[in-house]
Amino acid sequence: MPDGRPEIEIRGLRKAFGAHEVLRGIDLDVARGEVVCVIGPSGSGKSTLLRCVNLLEEPTAGQVFVGGTEVTGLDVDIDAVRRRIGMVFQQFNLFPHVTVEENLTLPQRRVLGRDRAAAARVARENLERVGLLEKAGAYPSKLSGGQQQRVAIARALAMDPEVMLFDEPTSALDPELVGDVLAVMRGLARDGMTMMVVTHEMSFAREVADRVVFMDDGLVVEEGPAEQVVGAPREARTRDFLTRVLDPAAAAPPGPESAADRAHRSP
Ligand SMILES: Nc1ncnc2c1ncn2[C@@H]1O[C@H](COP(=O)(O)OP(=O)(O)OP(=O)(O)O)[C@@H](O)[C@H]1O
Ligand SMILES: [Mg+2]
Repeated sequence: MPDGRPEIEIRGLRKAFGAHEVLRGIDLDVARGEVVCVIGPSGSGKSTLLRCVNLLEEPTAGQVFVGGTEVTGLDVDIDAVRRRIGMVFQQFNLFPHVTVEENLTLPQRRVLGRDRAAAARVARENLERVGLLEKAGAYPSKLSGGQQQRVAIARALAMDPEVMLFDEPTSALDPELVGDVLAVMRGLARDGMTMMVVTHEMSFAREVADRVVFMDDGLVVEEGPAEQVVGAPREARTRDFLTRVLDPAAAAPPGPESAADRAHRSP
């Protein structure tokens, strides 16, 4: 479990796109080896939060520290920061024209300067870790979406990241392929990887997350152990969100408002 200073520290983080303030002051710590799941409605700023941690977006204000180093400092080496942070997106973004193994070796060689043999060894270790060593010579287009996502995870791991950020890693997958990806992530959590995971998979959050953070409208509304935030939320906004996610059929349809609604609204 966690020791000493948090692995990720987010202090007063704000991000605006023009006049639209998308993050409105986020304070969040992630301890070493901790798994934090971030949940919340579409547009609440979850992706922007992850993207600010690895500097894909430049924060408007506030600070982010990773491993005790401020990554939002003026003189920071952005490439060095990104090297310490693995990121997995909804879309896997594999290089289509090279094999699975080369998808893992090319970044290691280019970014870390590993030689061919070392890069291949690390690639194969990590393909084994995600259960896909036998696909090393295949091209990504021959793999299922779930397999491609596991390759993308292996590619991130091959860079020896200190932390891993996942942005809805299973939401582009057919339901029957989700389980294998979550199993890989569960294994990583067990191995002690520090992880921030944006997800709609509430069962994963309940089972794997040390902590769940509910965001709405650019703020952290509620955070705590999964059994509390998902199982017995304190805030009405969290409850509303969970009702919609856990049982979409029970929630009001998001369709066009009725004529009666329109008639009730003042001009
Ligand atoms: N590059 C950008 N330029 C302008 N607005 C942006 C940009 N990126 C995000 N936004 C806006 O910021 C808000 C938050 O977006 P973000 O992608 O962080 O939400 P999210 O919580 O990840 O949503 P979802 O669940 O749909 O992925 C949205 O209103 C979005 O339109
Ligand atoms: Mg998002």
